[in-house]
Amino acid sequence: MFPIVDKPLIQYAVEEAVAAGAEKLIFVTAAGKGSIEDHFDVDAELERALEESGKAELLASVRAILPPSASCIFLRQGVPLGLGHAVLCARAAVGDEPFYVHLPDDLIYSATPCLKQMREHHERHGGSVLAVQTVPGERTASYGIVAVEEQPSGARSIKGIVEKPKPEDAPSNLAVVGRYLLTPRIFDKLETTQRGAGNEIQLTDGIASLMKEETVLALAFEGVRYDCGTKLGYLQALVEYGLRDAQVGQVFDNYLLEQIQPTR
Ligand code: G1P
Repeated sequence: MFPIVDKPLIQYAVEEAVAAGAEKLIFVTAAGKGSIEDHFDVDAELERALEESGKAELLASVRAILPPSASCIFLRQGVPLGLGHAVLCARAAVGDEPFYVHLPDDLIYSATPCLKQMREHHERHGGSVLAVQTVPGERTASYGIVAVEEQPSGARSIKGIVEKPKPEDAPSNLAVVGRYLLTPRIFDKLETTQRGAGNEIQLTDGIASLMKEETVLALAFEGVRYDCGTKLGYLQALVEYGLRDAQVGQVFDNYLLEQIQPTR
């Protein structure tokens, strides 16, 4: 629910997923995260109050929170057993079709929404698709890291994947970003995935097993990624989204200039 300018991160996630054709939105949350469910709920009283006071613009923004094409399912991951386990919690709700996994703390600014780029890649080449980005060598221990092989088609297939390796053990410096398009076969793999890094059931380990049977591709997406799970990434997102904001961007730009021009 951390806001970036005027919307919580989870709202950006929903907008990206819907723009990529998602209709069923499954939120895997945990105890104490009721505010997410509330955010996407219809607040009839608020809408009536805004209507009566003629606040048309605000009313439109409240109504745009959830597009009519989308429906929501909220699930609780009762025990914090890791990302692989969280994805497995959604098995029954997803059903037997390819699906996206979106980690909202990775915010991506791009001309074409990142998940849409991945869907187009999947439609062209088949298989599962992971969004990847080059990271500095010393940062590999923060990510899933992949080894890739270029196919004649130009697509890059994943030949190895490891969760948070030390720089000396990393197969490359190509990191998985929080966007996945996965085939439902991943659920069978996750059912038998043992605890891995951090003593958690890792999605990365499930993918390592999936990769032996099916094509898993790496897509170096077009866009800027902000790791809002870190203090610096969150601040960078706030500043850059603030500068792009139609209402306050220019004033904010002037303000920042004043701040960085030393008056001392
Ligand atoms: C998760 C994944 C990791 C991936 C990262 C992307 O890690 O386990 O493989 O690279 O998301 O943000 P987390 O950030 O939850 O530790």
